[in-house]
Amino acid sequence: MVPVSPLPQQPVAVFDSGVGGLTVLHELLVSLPTEDYLYLGDTARLPYGDRTQQELRDFSVEIADHLLEAGAKLLVVACNSASAAALDTIEAHLEARRVQVDVIGVISPATQLAVAGSRSGRIGLLATPATIASGAYARAVRAADRHVQLESVACPGLASIIEAGSSFDERGRVRGYCAPLRAAQVDQVILGCTHYPLIAPMLQRIVGRGVTLVTSGAGVARSVERALAARELLNPRSQEGEYRFQCTGDVELFQALGTRFLQMPLGEVAHVELAAAVTA
Ligand code: DGL
Repeated sequence: MVPVSPLPQQPVAVFDSGVGGLTVLHELLVSLPTEDYLYLGDTARLPYGDRTQQELRDFSVEIADHLLEAGAKLLVVACNSASAAALDTIEAHLEARRVQVDVIGVISPATQLAVAGSRSGRIGLLATPATIASGAYARAVRAADRHVQLESVACPGLASIIEAGSSFDERGRVRGYCAPLRAAQVDQVILGCTHYPLIAPMLQRIVGRGVTLVTSGAGVARSVERALAARELLNPRSQEGEYRFQCTGDVELFQALGTRFLQMPLGEVAHVELAAAVTA
């Protein structure tokens, strides 16, 4: 089999369970404006945060194949739950197919920022139950600095509340999720779900001004730039590239919510069916 190597003109592909990954896409659009982007929201199977590790691996490999078929030159897993469960699996899958495409996840960029920024050595983590259960952040923090303590809080339902646009009505619940972090006196809080930066103002008010909220977007953008440069895959054009969207669920809902969160026009959103789609 001949190895498949992509070309600079091909798009960077980004995926998440829903609109959360737009917080990562936004950083990419700003940091690497000359690239083309293809974003997929797997809204038919949201929330990912309640899925098993095996389901997340199956979904992620299926989506990776779909995005490669659509011409992706690099894959960004803009979802912590999928990054935690499936990054290694996707990489192994691409290697087996002899596809020379880099896969960038969100766990390591956020961890590095938080560890480097902490003076107290106490870091908080808000994430989905799936991400916490994977232990991926605990391992990443330990690998970065074994003297740093991590206070992890699973936030069941929070990504869905954000997708539904009802976070204001759920302030009490959000405050409850933050309570252990306040008690532990952390000085950094990793927003370990790409949906959570969408309610950053509310979270900042709860945890207090002195605590830094750490998101993965900027670090991911730098990793993407380095990976593309290493393979000489940066798009050489000088004008802005294009971006387009696909989702597996309701197209209009995605368009409305996505436009609100990205604060840029989304254009047409294409509906895609994935073979193993299960909504239950
Ligand atoms: N935004 C995703 C994450 O970072 C998934 C949220 C969900 O679908 O539960 O984990």
